[in-house]
Amino acid sequence: MAKALIVANWKMNPLSFKEAKKLFDATKKAADAAKSVSIVVAPPSIFLRGLTDSYKGKKLAFAVQNAHFEKEGAFTGDISLSQAKDAGASYGIVGHAERRAAGETNDDARKKVAAALAAKMTPILCVGERDRTGDGAHFSFVAEQLRAGFADVPKGKAARVIVAYEPVWAIGAPKPMSAHDMHEMAIFIRKTVVEALAGDGMKVAILYGGSIDETNAADMMQNGDVSGLLVGRASTDAKKFSALIGAVGKAL
Ligand code: PGA
Repeated sequence: MAKALIVANWKMNPLSFKEAKKLFDATKKAADAAKSVSIVVAPPSIFLRGLTDSYKGKKLAFAVQNAHFEKEGAFTGDISLSQAKDAGASYGIVGHAERRAAGETNDDARKKVAAALAAKMTPILCVGERDRTGDGAHFSFVAEQLRAGFADVPKGKAARVIVAYEPVWAIGAPKPMSAHDMHEMAIFIRKTVVEALAGDGMKVAILYGGSIDETNAADMMQNGDVSGLLVGRASTDAKKFSALIGAVGKAL
């Protein structure tokens, strides 16, 4: 199996740069010790440059949690993907459920995926239904998010897009979706992206996110048909995250 990709989405944590540096140093240590695992750290953007400046290694990369699709302009309070790239981010999370809850649309996600690729960054397109109603409606909801997200991807670039499936009901929850159900969803995502992109769709990496921690990460990697994980809470606890990385490394 290829290297697993573990994305540490710190969200709006921790409180200070001092704490962020401490968490980053612990993450770095765990990343250095891990085999077959690549780590992407997504800190609050105000901490990005300070952390990227302090890092000289190759095991770790950085992501911006959210950024505007325009390069520059009159967008008070926003930062652009290009600015995040300048601060050292090579990945951009797009359409995270918490951004969608704050108003981000499929159309915004489409523009951000294209803008990230244009800036030579790797977009991580987050998709996932809010709930499951038992009638299979979540499949068409996710398909729509995927088709929109990939709509403006130039020919030949699709393989650079990463899809993170994060069912909203499993984010910040007591436990993740079962690996068995993820396997089913991974097949559906693969089918949808192949329909949209033909052969290129086979190369798109699929991650799972939602209540992953050190106790369930290995099972999801082994049985969920995913090539990596997007981790929220457990990525801001240095001990848990180190154990998580270790467990994934062993499971591969
Ligand atoms: P969680 O968050 O791991 O805390 O559930 C995942 C995410 O929102 O990316």
